[in-house]
Amino acid sequence: MEAALTTDVLVVHGGSPLRGQIRVRGAKNLVSKAMVAALLGDTPSRLYDVPAIRDVEIVRGLLELHGVRVTDGELPGELSFDPSNVERANVDEINVHAGSSRIPILFCGPLLHKLGHAFIPDLGGCNIGGRPIDFHLQALREMGAVVDKTPSGLDITAPNGLQGTKFELPYPSVGATEQVLLAAVRAHGVTELRNAAVEPEIMDLIAILQKMGAIINVHTDRVIEIEGVDRLRGYTHRPIPDRIETASWAAAALATGGDVYVQGARQADMMTFLNLYTKVGGAFDIDDSPTGGIRFWHPGGELKAVLLETDVHPGFMTDWQQPMVVALTQARGLSIVHETVYERRLGYTDALNQMGATIQTYRECLGGTPCRFGRRNFTHSAVIAGPSKLIAHDVVIPDLRAGFSHLIAALAAEGTSKVYGVELIRRGYEDFEAKLAALGASVEKG
Ligand code: EPU
Repeated sequence: MEAALTTDVLVVHGGSPLRGQIRVRGAKNLVSKAMVAALLGDTPSRLYDVPAIRDVEIVRGLLELHGVRVTDGELPGELSFDPSNVERANVDEINVHAGSSRIPILFCGPLLHKLGHAFIPDLGGCNIGGRPIDFHLQALREMGAVVDKTPSGLDITAPNGLQGTKFELPYPSVGATEQVLLAAVRAHGVTELRNAAVEPEIMDLIAILQKMGAIINVHTDRVIEIEGVDRLRGYTHRPIPDRIETASWAAAALATGGDVYVQGARQADMMTFLNLYTKVGGAFDIDDSPTGGIRFWHPGGELKAVLLETDVHPGFMTDWQQPMVVALTQARGLSIVHETVYERRLGYTDALNQMGATIQTYRECLGGTPCRFGRRNFTHSAVIAGPSKLIAHDVVIPDLRAGFSHLIAALAAEGTSKVYGVELIRRGYEDFEAKLAALGASVEKG
């Protein structure tokens, strides 16, 4: 993701607790994949609770370019997809979406099945590491795809269709697991994927594919077995709630000494987060009725320093890290953060230091678990000394989750900060300005 737009500014008068109720909708990182899955069906699909975020607009645009008719339903957040006229899209038109998102890479399998050809523009997404797609391409090649790297993007064909295969991921990548699922469900024969990612969003995608007629078995030890079928039908689905957005508001409640009820949040996907929240000294209360959610609050007293190591599911999500680090600046003692999923996801801490935090970053694997980045000279660990009084400072948002952490820091800091580039936050947080207002934050457009 490129540098933030400096015209898109939020003026934040910080120093007051966030208090009130907001609602989360379907998970960004499931909804966008569910939209791609709709391409695979012979009949229309319907998705509920879709958040109005930029990433959804991008995927909708790409689907429409490929002839999928996307219509808004009667309920807010309801979208229908009619894939009966899927067609090749014009490369120039696809390229309008170059650099906007990472989702286009997941169009490979569905387009190869429907058209025998896929053109994938250059990918975007947050600049938090190299984010290669080698696992994706390796898996597709093993299934029979021919990948041609052209100056404008990837040109992919499958002269003999896609075949089931046995493939082991070098690392349990979320995107590569989804790639294999979306390609294997209609491939000839059985695909066995080893070292697969098993994030709740992936399980929900599997649930969608099963509704469509796919046969997918999730075995122990990260093994997923997919029996290819000839046809898939459309689905109707209500996605799992966004556990990253939920954690972001929970961290904001803690960092500002506030009390936030996140309607729609679900405990099952957030166990690891809730454990750490408790250890830091945050409080939560779960209402698991159908219209329930989770209330998160700062119960008073001092927060406690903790060790936080990010990991693939069921570990502590990398996307929970940045918002929680802001809360950790308020904890007494030395907190240790070890980021093991992305090699460059700590750069945002410079801005927190400018606001008065004391965060030192390291190349070593702090925290005890050696990871892929320790020997490769990446700054991927941090020590946070707290508590620190945060003071207003102007900041430029570097990426989606770091951006939300900057926003939380500005809300927690005494004084007025300008937060530049809030457009990036719109990629993943629906209506966040209205939600801030609902929580009593004093913010205005710059
Ligand atoms: N990786 C490779 N080669 C590949 C694919 C991945 O080396 O071919 C590496 C990556 O470089 C990274 C690690 O594997 O170090 C994990 O990457 P993964 O593929 O799991 O991430 P992703 O699918 O690109 C999704 C989410 C991210 C989230 C990660 C981890 C979407 C659109 N994005 O990314 O969400 O952090 O999984 O859970 O689903 C966000 O929402 O802000 C976000 C960045």
